[in-house]
Amino acid sequence: MYSQKIIEHFTKPKYVGEMDNADGVGQVGNPRCGDVMKIFIKVNNGVIKDIRFQTYGCIAAIAASDMVCELVKGKKLDDALKVTPQDVASQLGDMPPIKFHCSILGMSALKEAVDDYRKKSEK
Ligand code: FES
Repeated sequence: MYSQKIIEHFTKPKYVGEMDNADGVGQVGNPRCGDVMKIFIKVNNGVIKDIRFQTYGCIAAIAASDMVCELVKGKKLDDALKVTPQDVASQLGDMPPIKFHCSILGMSALKEAVDDYRKKSEK
């Protein structure tokens, strides 16, 4: 069913929580189930220095949010956006195929957070 890695990221997520004074915040909803995911980023010199997430969703969505954070922390914004949902899913390992759409949310929320940061920094 679920890989060991998914269970680990679900039961002990490293990046769960809110962030005060985030430089960018992105929120997306999953149209299929109504679940919601929010990602907060801190950016310094174009690099994601810190990242947190809040996800009201299923096991796959929570594990994928945590994995997205792990994969993009320390990356330049453009490099972070090159991470694909397939990268996230393949790092996580086996999940029921019906759950793949849940793992896409994390990268969508990250993209929103980066857009938000860029909009704010243009002002
Ligand atoms: S069932 Fe809603 S995010 Fe997975």
